[in-house]
Amino acid sequence: MRIKNIALGSSGLKVSNLGLGCMGMSAFYGETNETESLAAIELALELGVNFLDTAEIYGPFKNEILISKAIKGKREKFMIATKTGVEVDDDGNYKGVNGSPDYIKKAIDRSLKHLETDYVDLYYIHRIDPKIPIEETIGAMSDLVKNGKVRYIGLSEASASTIRRAHSVHPVSALQTEYSLFERSVEENGILETVNELSIGFVAYSPLGRGFLSGEIKSIDDLAPDDWRRNNPRFQGDNFKKNLEVVEEVKKLSKEKGVTPSQLALAWVLHKGYSAIPGTKRRKYLRENVGAAEIEFSEKELAYIDNIFPQGVASGERYPPQQMSSLNV
Ligand SMILES: NC(=O)c1ccc[n+]([C@@H]2O[C@H](COP(=O)([O-])OP(=O)(O)OC[C@H]3O[C@@H](n4cnc5c(N)ncnc54)[C@H](OP(=O)(O)O)[C@@H]3O)[C@@H](O)[C@H]2O)c1
Repeated sequence: MRIKNIALGSSGLKVSNLGLGCMGMSAFYGETNETESLAAIELALELGVNFLDTAEIYGPFKNEILISKAIKGKREKFMIATKTGVEVDDDGNYKGVNGSPDYIKKAIDRSLKHLETDYVDLYYIHRIDPKIPIEETIGAMSDLVKNGKVRYIGLSEASASTIRRAHSVHPVSALQTEYSLFERSVEENGILETVNELSIGFVAYSPLGRGFLSGEIKSIDDLAPDDWRRNNPRFQGDNFKKNLEVVEEVKKLSKEKGVTPSQLALAWVLHKGYSAIPGTKRRKYLRENVGAAEIEFSEKELAYIDNIFPQGVASGERYPPQQMSSLNV
């Protein structure tokens, strides 16, 4: 198995099964380096990775602007996914979840301006607004498809019933939600079942457990003082210690298989036929991650993995309480 294009949903969108999460290039995960990030995006294309993931809130706006530089002159070679629905004002101040048609119509024009393009391949609703019926939000997204600003639409962190309601207004091409050896709740809360039934593509974000599964994070001091992960319960106190023990299992298994822990974790997602969008700001990690697409698993290995990484294996919630409450699950 190598990097290949897969269909996301049944509406015609095709993207590389391994994408590139660009968030950390501009926000949340410590220091940034524009030169290296641009080189990583260039390398991604050479390696067959054409699916770039960003959002207006990454930076805010800085990540979309970075991507505009990377895609200049070769826009059509990339599949650009960006997100709206968490409001930021034009000065980059966070205003909270907002799925109103007015905000979405404003946000797409701003994203297109920052990305320096006249269309987005995949436009996600980043978080579901409990104050606005999803039908209204999707109605506005559908208008963006009709007027050519957006090719396909997606949702992020939506519940099974929200996905169903959204899909009845306009075909949803992709659902993006956290999924990894650390985080398998979509297997049990009806979400994977629903997207499979409706032929909606599934995009696994944080497929490396926000870096934990790589085995490179050994102490909280490996994270910069302003790294957002310091606020994430999985990286705190006893949870951190317990999660390191889970990572030891990943290391053991990957060693036996002659691959790296990151490759093992990513290969597991790809093997299921989903798209994975590991985040990295470095060419070195990107090259390593692309190797995941060549890894095969036997039935015996898959059963072993299921046994040692069951749902709930990671200690701690995946977000701090306030952000946890903004998930529609
Ligand atoms: N929809 C949502 O709500 C949502 C939420 C979170 C993320 N996302 C998207 O999903 C993407 C991926 O998620 P994520 O970045 O949170 O987590 P992730 O992909 O699980 O992990 C990223 C972390 O792993 C490190 N890493 C990557 N490859 C590595 C390797 N081979 N060896 C060692 N370390 C490696 C990265 O390091 P460096 O950064 O140092 O390269 C980074 O710290 C994001 O970029 C974003 O686009 C979406």
